[in-house]
Amino acid sequence: MLGARAFGGIQSPFLFAMPHTPSPSRYENPALYRRCGRSGLKLPAISLGFWHNFGSVGDPANSRALVLRSFDLGITHFDLANNYGPPPGSAEEAFGRILHADLAAHRDELIISTKAGYTMWPGPYGDWGSRKYLLSSLDQSLRRMRLDYVDIFYSHRPDPETPLEETMGALAQAVRSGKALYVGLSNYSAEQTVRASKLLREFGTPCLIHQPKFHLFERWIERGLTRVLQDEGIGGIAFCPLAQGLLTNRYLGGIPADSRAAHDPRFLKPEHITPEKLDKIRQLDVLARARGQSLAQMSLAWVLRTPGITSALIGASKPSQIEENIGALQAAPFTSDELVQIEKILAG
Ligand SMILES: NC(=O)c1ccc[n+]([C@@H]2O[C@H](COP(=O)([O-])OP(=O)(O)OC[C@H]3O[C@@H](n4cnc5c(N)ncnc54)[C@H](OP(=O)(O)O)[C@@H]3O)[C@@H](O)[C@H]2O)c1
Repeated sequence: MLGARAFGGIQSPFLFAMPHTPSPSRYENPALYRRCGRSGLKLPAISLGFWHNFGSVGDPANSRALVLRSFDLGITHFDLANNYGPPPGSAEEAFGRILHADLAAHRDELIISTKAGYTMWPGPYGDWGSRKYLLSSLDQSLRRMRLDYVDIFYSHRPDPETPLEETMGALAQAVRSGKALYVGLSNYSAEQTVRASKLLREFGTPCLIHQPKFHLFERWIERGLTRVLQDEGIGGIAFCPLAQGLLTNRYLGGIPADSRAAHDPRFLKPEHITPEKLDKIRQLDVLARARGQSLAQMSLAWVLRTPGITSALIGASKPSQIEENIGALQAAPFTSDELVQIEKILAG
């Protein structure tokens, strides 16, 4: 039964012929769920993000297949932002259509996040971290997804010009108004996180989660942030854990036409795939296969073994990638020898 709180009473367009019937066995992998910091909330170790493949450039049938396959595998957390598309806003609209057409009865089984912080609309109020921007943007996101509330609302990036009290105050107000259940930070440094966390605690809305970039080639969080997350009881969700596909077998034999680097090189450009990087990727692939895993699975297992990290926030262009990636959880723990080998490969 669909509560008024869940969808604001707006009827969904009947986009797809038959609503999906979720797999009855989707919760048969209890090891998938990990506590988010010192909160009451558990998140799946693998979460799905909507940065790519959900905007108006994505094929709606494929976007739907990605969401439904994830949910069938027990992935309960879907991560959005106001600006995901292109154009900005279109990923939230696409997600709203899938949600209302197929998962309307399952809103209480889902953790849906969105963010504000990057450029969204023209003029001085459509960017960064003012109260004006954050709260207007949250209202717009709710309208696009046709939701009454999101589970997590993030400040997408720190704003050097807005007092931190104002940005954190806006997050706290989002919770007090019932439009968000929890709040999060993304791309905040360790020092900024300590200050923001203190403010949020004072406002009565402790920080649930931090979303930093983290993968085998991007290790900045190890220099202070992971310690802060553990001390503050904040969960961590690593974005781009596969380095946008580099840490998979995707580019081992060249740049496939259907890959992100070939068809949507807004952020991952062919020139990022250098011979030096490919050499490391090949060595990591050999090591992964010796462990009985794919490179994608080993890369995710490595991220998830990091203290302070609750979930790896993947993207996908095919349901089969999500199936492969969730297999990362079956991995044997890394031996100390394997960890040393990884460091040697990364050091070149
Ligand atoms: N907070 C922030 O500032 C921020 C910034 C960026 C991203 N994010 C979040 O992080 C999420 C994930 O980012 P991302 O998409 O860059 O993550 P990613 O998991 O590092 O990369 C996803 C891409 O890797 C490839 N891939 C995934 N699994 C594969 C497999 N098993 N085998 C081969 N290739 C595979 C696919 O590329 P192909 O398309 O080539 O198949 C897929 O689109 C975003 O959707 C967003 O929610 C947050």
